[in-house]
Amino acid sequence: MSSNSHVLFSLMFFSFSCKFLYVVSGRSSPRSNTDLFILACGDSSSKTDANGRKWVPDSEYLTSSCNSMSATAESQDPSLPSSVPYMSARVFTSECTYKFSVSPEKHHWVRLHFYPSSYSSLDPLEAYFSVTAGEFTLLNNFSASITAQALTQAYIIREFSLKPSQSGSLILTFTPSSKQKGSYAFVNGIEMVSVPADVFESAPLVGFSDQSVDVNDSSLQTMFRLNIGGKYIPPNNDSGLTRTWYDDSPYLFGAAFGVTSQAAKNVTIRYPSGVPGYIAPIDVYSTARSMGPNAKVNENYNLTWVFQVDANFTYLVRFHFCDFQLTKVNQRAFDIYINNQTAQAAADVIAWSGSKGVPVYKDFATHTSDGPGNEELWVALHPSVSMKPEYYDAILNGLEIFKLNDAARNLAGPNPVPSPMLLKAVSDEKKAFAPSESNNQSKLISGIAAGIAGLVLVAAICIFIHRRKKIADGSECAASWLPLYGNSQTSACKSTICGRSDVGRSLSSQAAVMCRHFTLAEIKQGTKNFDESQVIGVGGFGKVYKGIVDRGTKVAIKRSNPCSEQGVNEFQTEIDMLSKLRHRHLVSLIGCCEENGEMILVYDFMGNGTLREHLCKSNMSHLSWKQRLEICIGAARGLHYLHTGAKYTIIHRDVKTTNILLDENWVAKVSDFGLSKTGPNLDQTHVSTVVKGSFGYLDPEYFRRQQLTEKSDVYSFGVVLFEVLCARPALDPSLPKEQVSLADWARQCQRMGVLEEIIDPHLRGKINPKCLNKFAETAEKCLSEHGIDRPSMGDVLWNLEFVLRLHKNPDGEVMIPEDKVNADYTMHRTMLTIEEESTASEETDDVNTSAAFSQLVDFKGR
Ligand SMILES: *[C@@H]1O[C@H](CO)[C@@H](O)[C@H](O)[C@H]1NC(C)=O
Ligand SMILES: *[C@@H]1O[C@H](CO)[C@@H](O)[C@H](O)[C@H]1NC(C)=O
Repeated sequence: MSSNSHVLFSLMFFSFSCKFLYVVSGRSSPRSNTDLFILACGDSSSKTDANGRKWVPDSEYLTSSCNSMSATAESQDPSLPSSVPYMSARVFTSECTYKFSVSPEKHHWVRLHFYPSSYSSLDPLEAYFSVTAGEFTLLNNFSASITAQALTQAYIIREFSLKPSQSGSLILTFTPSSKQKGSYAFVNGIEMVSVPADVFESAPLVGFSDQSVDVNDSSLQTMFRLNIGGKYIPPNNDSGLTRTWYDDSPYLFGAAFGVTSQAAKNVTIRYPSGVPGYIAPIDVYSTARSMGPNAKVNENYNLTWVFQVDANFTYLVRFHFCDFQLTKVNQRAFDIYINNQTAQAAADVIAWSGSKGVPVYKDFATHTSDGPGNEELWVALHPSVSMKPEYYDAILNGLEIFKLNDAARNLAGPNPVPSPMLLKAVSDEKKAFAPSESNNQSKLISGIAAGIAGLVLVAAICIFIHRRKKIADGSECAASWLPLYGNSQTSACKSTICGRSDVGRSLSSQAAVMCRHFTLAEIKQGTKNFDESQVIGVGGFGKVYKGIVDRGTKVAIKRSNPCSEQGVNEFQTEIDMLSKLRHRHLVSLIGCCEENGEMILVYDFMGNGTLREHLCKSNMSHLSWKQRLEICIGAARGLHYLHTGAKYTIIHRDVKTTNILLDENWVAKVSDFGLSKTGPNLDQTHVSTVVKGSFGYLDPEYFRRQQLTEKSDVYSFGVVLFEVLCARPALDPSLPKEQVSLADWARQCQRMGVLEEIIDPHLRGKINPKCLNKFAETAEKCLSEHGIDRPSMGDVLWNLEFVLRLHKNPDGEVMIPEDKVNADYTMHRTMLTIEEESTASEETDDVNTSAAFSQLVDFKGR
């Protein structure tokens, strides 16, 4: 290995390495007198990562002659944020030490980056090792592979804050575990940056009014660092300290998420003298999560976050606050609980900070008992009712949780234990190796496709002409009050078809023009003055009533909660989206009403309610397999249309069984567009702001990378498919841990070949095995970890239609070889188009025709 020459080299240069480093890594703009090292371990030259930070080779910091080598990862996981530093590693087969010259009497943040992969053909599961920093144990018998698996992450970053050493050097030692034979250690990246002197002081110990913990005397491990109610903040946006701040929503407990808010543009956030800017960046303080506008609701719940931690340690919990809305003391007073104990009664951000827009932070220490069952840390907020504040509300802007070393100077916890089922599933996955298919079939398919293409072209032109005629005489419009929308037409055209310009003060002008206006009197009459008996649903947006308008037309009426800003935004999005869309499988907006500060949307009434009710309520008639397939196909059509049918890709973002409605003929309609995203730039950037959606249905990749694509809808739809098959909710916290998430559980059962055991008992024995296989396989593909591995909505639709044909005719010849469904996109697209047109024949749908038309043009161009 070349490690020996590296060692020589490093000894020669060690004496002035520190100065050298300032030059090399100057890009990260260290404050004066700061130690800063950013090492890409195992790399031979300096490289820049995706955030523009420069990483330098590690070899000159390796001190003793030990057995180490540089290696390159065998494969690159798509969820890695950057190939630097993860694609190269330093691998140690015996104890090895890095030595850094640092300023004495300073704390240092050390970040270790691990990407468990196969390096030089070594098995990642055999890497067990410990890492120490001087006398402190940071990691012990650590398996990056098991940890990453249990957290379902591709890579692991461990951050520690280390006590200063007297000697002016900081020594990191990697030791392969002696317990496991053939064990080795590895690391991909090491960062070290000095911590400003006053970042940690002492913190009161919760539950012991007279005790405090001297944090400055401890070494710490960062467990969580969250930008509450805000978005991911990458290291280069963090005031030179290169910390990463994550979105908090994955840690929220239960269904009560509160509401998020952002400081208005005219509010300036100013650090007071006691809070240096490096405590947390402005971005953390300018977003927050609070409980919501309804005092009654807030009085009855705790805004709660739950964190997995190691038992038998003391933790420092740091709360970051900044009130950018209220200005007076006792407008918002709340209690803070940590692990069911009161950490702070009557917290009042304005009282602490003195005024609006001024950050303040509070530290508390808490100890978790030893023994199993103590691996959770709960943080909860509740309005301080006894203070009688003006608003019953609470607020939080940022949260950090640090683990303190124990009496044995140890910070290491055990490796997480993945369920045996998960382990088996992983090993099965490795064994399963799909052999490449023969070429004859694909030739056959392209032959069929070419034939069909000719037919479709003719059909599409006919339909197109037919539709044009209908638009011209305007009858469609009068009947539905909704404009027809061709994707190449302009809004001027739309408004002349149906427009009314006398509505909408705060609605976007386009939406106002496209929306039928109801008077508040009409709505009140139709809902018996919003009588509670008329309520058919409650959402984040407000209540949904059934009602009657136009002397007998049954409608659903969604009334926005006037105080909720989120509600107003979602109302706008919904109206913008729905007024532009018309499809048999999307719920139709009939009109709207905006009067007296009320915002009301009027929809077609869906006689059979939500898909969810038919899957869980025992008193409902049970849907047959065929009905379920038809409903899934309908919903898939609606989503496919959103993704491909309109001018821009529309991502629904909240696909779930309560958002799939059924009309009196059991036709499925996708509803609730309040969170939808669209825009001309979506395709290029895929960048989203805050992760939204519903737990149990959330795409894990979207979660981790906060990048939104239409494949996130495909993931959620995969959960819907399993829900339809198993008739259980996407999340069921009452079940044993490995079964709580339907997505995980069904996938494990599917991989182990025991899916039959968890399907709805009413379906057992009634599904042809081929059908079940195809259906489950489709659902499983939708749940692929990475978006690129998931099928498109069009492919999903094609597969479901195939299952339905198979169900209707189980013994008949299958026209298309079933395992080739992903082979030829063009063909499914064209097939789809035909079926879509024929099944929706009585429905006017101009967009669809245009979409079909453009697909054909596309097809011809290939
Ligand atoms: C909120 O949490 C505290 C502490 O765990 C608990 O005592 C209280 O009952 C909770 N309140 C509600 C409304 O759940
Ligand atoms: C808890 O930690 C202390 C040291 O801080 C140790 O002595 C004790 O054995 C630990 N208990 C368990 C169950 O690990």
